[in-house]
Amino acid sequence: MNTLTKYTGVFITFEGIDLTGKSTQIELLKNYFVKKKKKVKVVREPGGTYISEKIRDILLDKSNTGMFPLTEFFLFSASRYQLTEEVIKPLLKKNYFVLCDRYYDSSTAYQGYGGMIDLKIINKINRIASGLLKPDITFLIDLSLEATEKRRLLAGKMHDRMEAKEKSYFKKVRSGYLTLSRLDKKRFFVLDGEKSVDILHSEIVNIINKKLNEKNK
Ligand code: TYD
Repeated sequence: MNTLTKYTGVFITFEGIDLTGKSTQIELLKNYFVKKKKKVKVVREPGGTYISEKIRDILLDKSNTGMFPLTEFFLFSASRYQLTEEVIKPLLKKNYFVLCDRYYDSSTAYQGYGGMIDLKIINKINRIASGLLKPDITFLIDLSLEATEKRRLLAGKMHDRMEAKEKSYFKKVRSGYLTLSRLDKKRFFVLDGEKSVDILHSEIVNIINKKLNEKNK
């Protein structure tokens, strides 16, 4: 099904600012596929392989205060390339549904629209770091910053290095995501993160089934 390649599997990514509920939806979707007896694998970025998880630790470590924007972007990209070649592509060849918690759109939104790195550079490196792989479907769970902060307080969650950035930064990231979704309407599906977990899950399942049916027509 993967549009750019010969892969028979389906590559589905989840995007959004922190605490929009991506992980909950990924877990529910995984269970849905398991019940349907489909082959499914969940991976996350940055991380997902032995090497990528080590890179993740560097990226999220709050004591790494002197990290330059390009260093940060290259680390995300290095983690992505390793995950793509080691895990994602082989699974897509074996007919898996691969559910990825963040992919290169995170770099475009956080490092690009966040204002640190030129979007042309981001797009070029993204293509390289994904080995030209493109998600079949991307769900953007959109939620206001105020709502995510409320969730953080309720959960008593601490900020990691990425999350400790300014509020104005996350506003740019959120609107960057929305811009991205408008640039690729075929791939992106924007979901309202204020909706209940169950409603969001059924919207996600409906969208996937519709896409798969279109493909099989
Ligand atoms: P994580 O704890 O995984 O956040 P979440 O559970 O919300 O996905 O941390 C990943 C952080 O890294 C998150 O703040 C988003 C950021 N990030 C980037 O800035 N660029 C990227 O390319 C990726 C993959 C993540």
